[in-house]
Amino acid sequence: MNRPFLHLDAVRFRYDELDMRFDFAVAAGEWLAVIGPSGAGKSTLLDIVAGFLHPDSGRIVIGGIDRTTAPPAERPVSFVFQENNLFAHLTAAENVALGLSPSLRLSADQKRAVDAALAAVGLSGFDRRRPAELSGGERQRVALARAFLRERPLLLLDEPFAALGPALRQEMLQLLKRLRAERTGGPATILMVTHHPEDARGFADRVAFVENGQLIAIGPTDAVLSPGRDPHIDAYLGQSAEGSRHL
Ligand SMILES: Nc1ncnc2c1ncn2[C@@H]1O[C@H](COP(=O)(O)OP(=O)(O)OP(=O)(O)O)[C@@H](O)[C@H]1O
Ligand SMILES: [Mg+2]
Repeated sequence: MNRPFLHLDAVRFRYDELDMRFDFAVAAGEWLAVIGPSGAGKSTLLDIVAGFLHPDSGRIVIGGIDRTTAPPAERPVSFVFQENNLFAHLTAAENVALGLSPSLRLSADQKRAVDAALAAVGLSGFDRRRPAELSGGERQRVALARAFLRERPLLLLDEPFAALGPALRQEMLQLLKRLRAERTGGPATILMVTHHPEDARGFADRVAFVENGQLIAIGPTDAVLSPGRDPHIDAYLGQSAEGSRHL
């Protein structure tokens, strides 16, 4: 692997029922899709990387620095969740501006950057709208604009487009791919949770399959998702190893 950008080193985290263990690395500039059944621990994994949850043991190394105890704001990370990414009382432009300044006091240059970020996600002219006046897809685009404006090297995406229809989801992923390629600081390293194997196949460099708090497979997308590799993966995808032999 190229230089790893993110390393979960023997991380353990326990909820009452579920004993989670993660030990893997993501290369700088890599796009890793994380898939697996509901309740497997995917969101917990992202929360641990972001610093909202702290591992019981093990280390989180980001950019070569041990961040295990660093608070979320001090990690070189930005994130987009499935929903509720925006503050309801702030406009679209203010929600994006939070990525640059928590006080919302912006320089002229920063104001231009907010306008450009909204334009990049196709929302020029929507700057004064509040979240309630935007569609679900538009709200997610505002969240994406904010995440990109922060220019943090690691982007955590927890099913950000799950509420959108298939066409819009593909469109958003294309947008994400384009914004990522255009970043001045080089492509972000991405950890993206999705329930859609086609999202992983079309966009990710590798895929990790999480089941019951463990990462049971990680590798090139086609290899991990191919029928017959692992009965848990086949069951999740609704495919059978038997079926593939007849294709
Ligand atoms: N605060 C909590 N306290 C105790 N258990 C929790 C807590 N939050 C989540 N869990 C449990 O931990 C497990 C993993 O949850 P997590 O949200 O990481 O799953 P997930 O893989 O993201 O699922 P989904 O695909 O449905 O989003 C689940 O069984 C969940 O019930
Ligand atoms: Mg989840």
